[in-house]
This record gives sequence, C-alpha cells and structure tokens, in this order.
Amino acid sequence: MISLHLLASALLAASAQAATGYIDLSASGGVPDGKASGILYGVPNGPAYTPNPVPAVPWNLFKGAGINLMRAGGAQVPAPGWSSGDIKNYEQRFESAKQNYFDTMANGVKTFVLLPADMWGADSVTKTPVYPCDNGDCTYYGQFLDRVIADLKANNMLKGMQIDVWNEPDVPLFWDRSQDQYFQMWDYAFQKYRTAFPSSSGVTISGPAYTGPPNEGNSWWTKWADHMKNKPAVYPDVITYHQLLGRQDSFNDPFESKRVLDIIQSKNNLPRKLVQVNEYAGSDEQSPAYSAWFIGRFERTGQQGLRANWGYGRNLHNDFARLVAGVEAGSPYTLGDWHVYNYYTQVQKGSITRAGADDVLWDLFVTQNRGAKQVNALVGSRGQGTPWNSPDFPITMSSVSTVFGAATKVRAVIKEIPFNNAGRVDAPTVVSNATYNVVNNRVVLPIYSRVDNAYTIDVYAA
Ligand SMILES: *[C@@H]1O[C@H](CO)[C@@H](O)[C@H](O)[C@H]1NC(C)=O
Repeated sequence: MISLHLLASALLAASAQAATGYIDLSASGGVPDGKASGILYGVPNGPAYTPNPVPAVPWNLFKGAGINLMRAGGAQVPAPGWSSGDIKNYEQRFESAKQNYFDTMANGVKTFVLLPADMWGADSVTKTPVYPCDNGDCTYYGQFLDRVIADLKANNMLKGMQIDVWNEPDVPLFWDRSQDQYFQMWDYAFQKYRTAFPSSSGVTISGPAYTGPPNEGNSWWTKWADHMKNKPAVYPDVITYHQLLGRQDSFNDPFESKRVLDIIQSKNNLPRKLVQVNEYAGSDEQSPAYSAWFIGRFERTGQQGLRANWGYGRNLHNDFARLVAGVEAGSPYTLGDWHVYNYYTQVQKGSITRAGADDVLWDLFVTQNRGAKQVNALVGSRGQGTPWNSPDFPITMSSVSTVFGAATKVRAVIKEIPFNNAGRVDAPTVVSNATYNVVNNRVVLPIYSRVDNAYTIDVYAA
C-alpha cells in the first residue's frame, strides 16, 4: 500500500481559510478490504432474551453494510456471567457470543473479536464480585479460562477468532483493581491462550483495549510499554485501543493516536503489529459525516475500525451499533450511517488512491478503477464549532488522464448522505450531476457541506 500517512503528516496544520481536498489519480495501490467496517455488538441473540428474543434483523442489511469485523461476548444480557459463581450465568453469555459468532461469520465477518471480560461479567452493569487474580491467586480465573478455551474448541469457533484479553481495564467500571493486578492477569491469560492456541492455530490474542487512546503521559500506556518491553512473550498479536472522546475533543483522532502509538513503540523497541481501534466514535459522533471522516482516518493509517455501541441492555443487541433502527417494532430501516458503510464496502472497489485534506477536520477515502474509468470518493468532516463555519470543500483531482485518458470533460455525480437527526434515510440524495472541464489535467469538484452529512462523488467519463 502507498504511504498515505507520510503525505498527511505535512498537512496537519489547520488553516483559517476554507479547507480544500486533493485526489491524485496518478498514485494508487492497495485493494480496499473494508478495514474500518466493524461493529461492537448490535446483533440479535435469541437465547439470552427467551421468551422475548430481539426480532431478527434481515441479514441483507448486515451484508449491505459490509460488516467484516464483529466484537461481542454476551455483555449486559440478563445472566450476569462467570463471576456470579453460577455456571449457568456464564453459559448464557457464552451462548450469546456463540450465536453472534456463527450468525455473523455466515454473513461476511472475517474476524470475530471475543470479549471474555463480558463472559466474566465485567460489563459495567453487573456488579462483579471478584476479579481475576484477586489476592494474587489466579486459580479461579484459570478455571474460567480453561472453560472458555474448551468451549471455543468444542464448538469449532477458532476460524477468524481474536481474543481481546480484557476490555477497558483503565476504567474502574470494567476493571476495579490495580494496574499491577491487571498485568498479572494479562500474563496469566496470555500464556494460557497461547498454549491452547499457538500462532499456527490462526487464533489471535489482542489488547490492551484501553479506553484511553495511546498517550505518552498516561501511566496505563507507560506501564504497558515497560511491561511489554520486559516480556516479549506476552506481546499481543493485535494492538487494540478505543477512540471515544467525542466531538468536543479536538484530539479524538485515530490518526493522532496512531502517531503516538508509533512513538511509544519506537522508544521501547516494541514490534509493529496490526492495530485495531475496536470502539470508535463517541455517541455524539455517530453521524454520516463523522463515520466517513473516521473511515478516511483508518484507511490513511492502516488501522482497523469497529464502531462503538452506545446501547444498553437489550438495546446493545439490536441495531448494528446504530446503523439501522426499527428492529424492535419489526420493521427495520437504514440510517444515514448505514449508507456510508454501504458506499465504502459495496461501491468503493478497485485501487486505493492518494487523497487528503489540508485540514484535519476533513478527510476522504478514494478508489479508482482504470478499466471502468471510474473514481469513487467518500468525504467526511468533523462538525466542530458552532456554527459549522467552513462548509465549502473544493477538491482538486489531478492527473485526470491516468484514469480518463485524453478526455476534456468528466461527469461527476455528487450525493449527500443525510444525518436526518439519526432518523430514517432510505437512500443518498443526488445534489448535483454535471460535467466539469479538465484544465491542466485537473478538475475541481465542489462540496458544499452541511454539518453531520457525508458526501460521495462518483466520477465517470463524460
Ligand atoms: C447523470 O446524468 C447523466 C446524463 O444525463 C445520466 O445518464 C445519469 O443517469 C445521471 N445520474 C444520476 C445518478 O442522476
């Protein structure tokens, strides 16, 4: 893949003028793999809610969003998990995870990120009476791990399986114990999992899944780096963290987080691994504009992205992390964000193309298909500030001849994917369909944005 991040880092300084974007058709490489198309929970699971299960969501909506990463572990279902001391309460959580695994793997998911902490019961709702390795004794936790490992094997759930050792240990709601106990738990679990699932098994082990993104001043991260430096045998296969700080936080940017993670790794001689942001977007950032912007950031930095889920209890399990709604009423419909995922995973084929913006509040993800003479751009923004005061976003597309030969004009169809206050959106709206003159092998494509709405640009031969 071409090195998009090098290009972008020179462009971090925000400008007071209207932001502008660029697409360079001469620079392309890499096949889109939907790396930012994951979700946390959101898929119905019958056993947990018998006799009133969440109605099934039509799987064509799941496939239409192109979901290929799914993260679950039975959180917030009525049975409170292993730590309650009653095995039935674990079994129901495992059954929930198992149904999610088989349903989603049958519908396009390639990686299933398992949350053992939720099967333990540390899901922010259950009052977790005990934690792994309390009083320095990991025996009870070991029994849990043995059972999880046996259940994964007995049910043939190894394909695409990623085990996220513990969710958000840096938040007392999820880990009400010390950092030292956390690292004791980590080492114990990692060695058990790795023994059961050697690298050749295809099962991967991930962490630390902190809620706080990489930060050189945060003791969870500095201790993590120290610990991993001293114990390379427990270094995760996939590095996970969360990006949930919300729209008021100017640093809620996975581009910035990846930059800091790279620094932490370099300073401590830690190997680079696949990085997965397995909860992203604060609840106020779940709009088409933000989703498209986040997708641009993940693609730019090569990180996988899984959309956060802000539902509680039953509502954690019924709307694909707010890509759809109306499930409980028996008439599911799509939200604007679903159309962003649909465009990203179903329309954007071909070859990833260099593109970017001169303002970190904007980003775009672009693909080109030279054979079909087609370019597809997904454009998103962070709607910070009141009012949203830089709505124009002209995008200069250069090296037009690379895709369109000697054409003197191209046609561009620009569509808006509305937020509609998180309401129903059946389809994107065409805002313009026009030809543009090619001048000096360039075309300027205009976006007049409205806050929270995303835009797509389909460029064809005129
Ligand atoms: C755009 O206009 C062209 C030429 O009139 C037409 O063939 C095409 O169907 C239009 N596309 C959309 C999405 O409206």
